[in-house]
Amino acid sequence: MAPASSVVSRILLALSLFSGSGWGQDHDLDNLFNPILPGAHPDPSCIHVPKEKTYFCASSSFNIFPGIPIHASKDLKSWKLVGHVLNRPSQLPELAESVGSTSGIWAPTLRYHGGTYYLVTTMVHDKRPELDPSRWDNIIFETDNIWDESTWSDPVHFPFQGYDPSPWWDDNEESHIVAAHAWRVDPGIHMAKVDLKTGKVKSDWKKIWNGTGGLAPEGPRIYKKDGYYYLMIAEGKCGTGKEHKETMARSRNLYGPYDPNPANPVLTNANTGLYLQAVGHADLFQDVDGYWWAAALAVRSGPEYINWPMGRETVLTNVTWDRGAWPVFNSPIHGEIPGLELPEVEGTIPGDGQAAGGEDVLLDFPPGSKLPPHFVYWRPPVKSNYVISPKGHENWLQLKPSKLNLTGIDGNSNGPGGITFVGRRQAHSWAHFQFDLDFRPKNEGEEAGIALFLSQNHHARLGVTLLPQANSTTLVPHFTFRAESHVPVPPPFTQPIPTDWLNDTITLELRAVDQTVYRFSAGPSGRRPWVIPLVDVPAETISWGFTGALMGAYATTNGGNGSTPAYLKRWDYMAVTQLRDCWNETLYNCRNGGCSCFPLPGEGEPAQPVRLV
Ligand SMILES: *[C@@H]1O[C@H](CO)[C@@H](O)[C@H](O)[C@H]1NC(C)=O
Ligand SMILES: *[C@@H]1O[C@H](CO)[C@@H](O)[C@H](O)[C@H]1NC(C)=O
Ligand SMILES: *[C@@H]1O[C@H](CO)[C@@H](O)[C@H](O)[C@H]1NC(C)=O
Ligand SMILES: *[C@@H]1O[C@H](CO)[C@@H](O)[C@H](O)[C@H]1NC(C)=O
Ligand SMILES: *[C@@H]1O[C@H](CO)[C@@H](O)[C@H](O)[C@H]1NC(C)=O
Ligand SMILES: *[C@@H]1O[C@H](CO)[C@@H](O)[C@H](O)[C@H]1NC(C)=O
Ligand SMILES: *[C@@H]1O[C@H](CO)[C@@H](O)[C@H](O)[C@H]1NC(C)=O
Repeated sequence: MAPASSVVSRILLALSLFSGSGWGQDHDLDNLFNPILPGAHPDPSCIHVPKEKTYFCASSSFNIFPGIPIHASKDLKSWKLVGHVLNRPSQLPELAESVGSTSGIWAPTLRYHGGTYYLVTTMVHDKRPELDPSRWDNIIFETDNIWDESTWSDPVHFPFQGYDPSPWWDDNEESHIVAAHAWRVDPGIHMAKVDLKTGKVKSDWKKIWNGTGGLAPEGPRIYKKDGYYYLMIAEGKCGTGKEHKETMARSRNLYGPYDPNPANPVLTNANTGLYLQAVGHADLFQDVDGYWWAAALAVRSGPEYINWPMGRETVLTNVTWDRGAWPVFNSPIHGEIPGLELPEVEGTIPGDGQAAGGEDVLLDFPPGSKLPPHFVYWRPPVKSNYVISPKGHENWLQLKPSKLNLTGIDGNSNGPGGITFVGRRQAHSWAHFQFDLDFRPKNEGEEAGIALFLSQNHHARLGVTLLPQANSTTLVPHFTFRAESHVPVPPPFTQPIPTDWLNDTITLELRAVDQTVYRFSAGPSGRRPWVIPLVDVPAETISWGFTGALMGAYATTNGGNGSTPAYLKRWDYMAVTQLRDCWNETLYNCRNGGCSCFPLPGEGEPAQPVRLV
């Protein structure tokens, strides 16, 4: 890819964003583009708060910190990050000890009731046996001011052997929790009276529905309409997957018996050839004009379900819900839904949060600044390992190395000192990410570099590492590469960095080249934008688990006693293309913010690693 093409795509992008917004204002009917929250934003829960004239969505975050992002929108089309429910390590110290890549914060439910926002979720220790009650830590956060993340409370905990809790208030203002029971034990949807302020469970848990036969009935939510309680749940062969679907049942009584909807499943992309798959885990809400909508998770994989590195993202679809009738969903869900009546917009979303699907163009780290709100760590960070503009390195971000590398102790657990890594979600099918690295390692094994990170046991990293020269004890900086996955990955390599590059800083680059391949490149920053491709990594490497790709930087001593810091600047994450299916076609290459419906070009030939010297 020539550098010129990046410039061109950036201009195209700007043009399509511009024409997109101009078009929307002059017409009542608008097209909606999915995902509405691109990148790892699974298990959405969304509400409309009339007082704020705003829609809010929470999503799950597993081991990512800060956790439980809240996005807000006025028009259901553009969404902005307004904070994180889990923003202080002290709120949930046990997140620092989570074992396993799929542990941490599972699906949240966000609700607004009596002037208070409630966020109910589960901290899961996924490596502990399903029967072990300490596997499931169910928690309730609250705030009166969703715009100020520091006002989210510490959680209260309540006992339940399961996950996906969701609150419901009955006509007497008594609060109940409906949740999914551990499915290897007693799968089904259970409900009890729970005091949301204290976490006290005030009745026995009662199983209210088994679902329609899917292996993991989960993600329950209750809605009351026209004298019926509607229970909506997600089912699948084993939770999220190609067979994922939403089913419903209803009853005249909160605790049942519930009668299934003869039209189940109400929402699914199973058995379609669509690019969006695994649609499910939905939440319903009504907009300012009374129209119903469903947010759900989806995976951009196509029916092949092989390459889905961005994991589970948030999508939206329209719903018709007539009086006394079952709701009817616009299902299956496409990447473009044309001709929708989107709500009237009043005001704008405040704050310095990034727009969902936003990019970082040439970010430096000026003195007195903070890291942007969308920057994330793997588990709560050791704050002192990330220093903005230290003396002598103004406008750089200093990373102090952790002893542990990105694999950590065993690919699963946290260990002493944590893992020095800072990144952001990949939010575009094709994206370019790079930064300049100033790193002068002194001790053998010291390493700093760029990473495509899903988890400790699913990632790929290209680093600068101090290692002995071949047949000598002289230590010289090498490029080192390593990937870890459940599928075959390119073998690790080390090769000396050309000596004439070493006076300069090194530009490290990671590109999502297409939907199947990532490319790591490096070059001396002074010769920007010239970089040499070093290795290609299949997207399948990180198409796994419950989260999605992070792109970021890391520093480690690989177990050694060194402490040489690394410095970064010119942090640049650039959107290239969003792939989504248009409503009338199968798979198209849609520029961000607009779906121009031109067919995908052929997939690029993976480049072979090249020798530098
Ligand atoms: C769930 O299924 C079990 C086993 O078939 C049955 O005994 C139980 O009554 C069912 N529960 C509900 C709430 O339908
Ligand atoms: C969704 O919106 C489209 C466009 O207005 C409409 O044709 C369709 O009937 C709606 N579907 C549902 C299920 O509400
Ligand atoms: C990364 O850390 C693990 C655990 O400490 C260690 O076994 C492994 O050798 C390290 N990797 C490298 C490339 O040093
Ligand atoms: C290192 O030594 C081995 C064995 O003596 C030799 O085959 C190899 O060419 C040497 N490598 C370099 C880079 O000198
Ligand atoms: C790198 O620095 C050394 C010592 O400062 C100098 O001798 C050499 O010419 C420089 N090389 C390049 C390519 O700038
Ligand atoms: C690191 O320091 C400890 C304690 O001083 C020492 O035992 C150990 O050998 C050192 N490790 C390395 C790799 O130098
Ligand atoms: C699909 O819709 C797009 C945009 O409305 C249009 O340009 C294209 O020709 C349509 N394709 C087909 C096969 O109808």
